Amino acid sequence: MSEFAASARPLQEELPKAKLIYKRILQAVSKALKTVRQGQMWSYGEMDECASAIVGSLLRNADALVSLSMVKGTDAYLAEHSAGVAILGAALAWAMGYESDTMLDVALGGLLHDIGMGWVPEKIFSKQGALTEAEFSIVKRHPEYGVEIVKSQKAVTGRVKKIIGQHHERLSGKGYPVGISGNRVDYFALITGAVDVFHALASDRPHGKAFTPQQALSTVYNGMETEFPRAIAEHFVKVIGIYPVGSFVVLASGEKGIVTRINRDGILVPDIVVLFSADGRRLPEPVAVRLAERTREQDGERYKIAKVLNPREDGVTVEEYLESAAA
Ligand SMILES: [Fe+2]
Repeated sequence: MSEFAASARPLQEELPKAKLIYKRILQAVSKALKTVRQGQMWSYGEMDECASAIVGSLLRNADALVSLSMVKGTDAYLAEHSAGVAILGAALAWAMGYESDTMLDVALGGLLHDIGMGWVPEKIFSKQGALTEAEFSIVKRHPEYGVEIVKSQKAVTGRVKKIIGQHHERLSGKGYPVGISGNRVDYFALITGAVDVFHALASDRPHGKAFTPQQALSTVYNGMETEFPRAIAEHFVKVIGIYPVGSFVVLASGEKGIVTRINRDGILVPDIVVLFSADGRRLPEPVAVRLAERTREQDGERYKIAKVLNPREDGVTVEEYLESAAA
């Protein structure tokens, strides 16, 4: 087992492969959800293949798929979310020192964690705005539905079933569907639960607008020790950095831009694309800047990240720039 983010292969080499894998995962998860919704049998083989592809890509270069999981589209939320949870969960398991067989279970558990939503009536699942108490009590059954749905597939391990059944349980006992607490909650379900919260909050959902990656990360942090074990958050920073890909930041100079790549040798100085000049004018073309190189120069202070902002306030669509940066 190689050390986390040792980047056995260069990012540029892995990105094109990771993009194909990511696309395939979205198709496979959408298909599985659709078949479950229609009361048919989902394909274990396809899901297992996707889980293997995720682990293979992460081990070659973790930043490729992790970056793609931060690019959010507007449609197919659940497929994107399941892919993101699978990728981030497997990367987190690796960062915590687990071997590839565990990463495979966490990846498969992530892909299938919300499969039970296929049994939640469509009109509740995609309702805009707040759910009634009665509707929410149906949504809260999706972990049990999920276990029921995968039960007939003998190859699904006990660990994957626990991830599906317990990903909304919390250390405090305030989770659902059962409300078990402390070490009665499966550790890998907690890993999946933490990345589920992070990824859901950082995305536009049917029930709410996206937080910035930092707000999502601090929500996970605030839940440490009451909801999730502290070690999970500590290692999660290794996976997504202090300024995750997609963060909209202002530099000490006043320039504003988007984080496009984590710098493993200096997580405070990622690569960004600058969109606004120091006097607030939108640049005609985005300018790629490696903050690590600039901060090594004499007036490097200007290139330190001063603050994280909400991109919506400046009318910025982060996804556009991430896609071009990943191209
Ligand atoms: Fe869920």
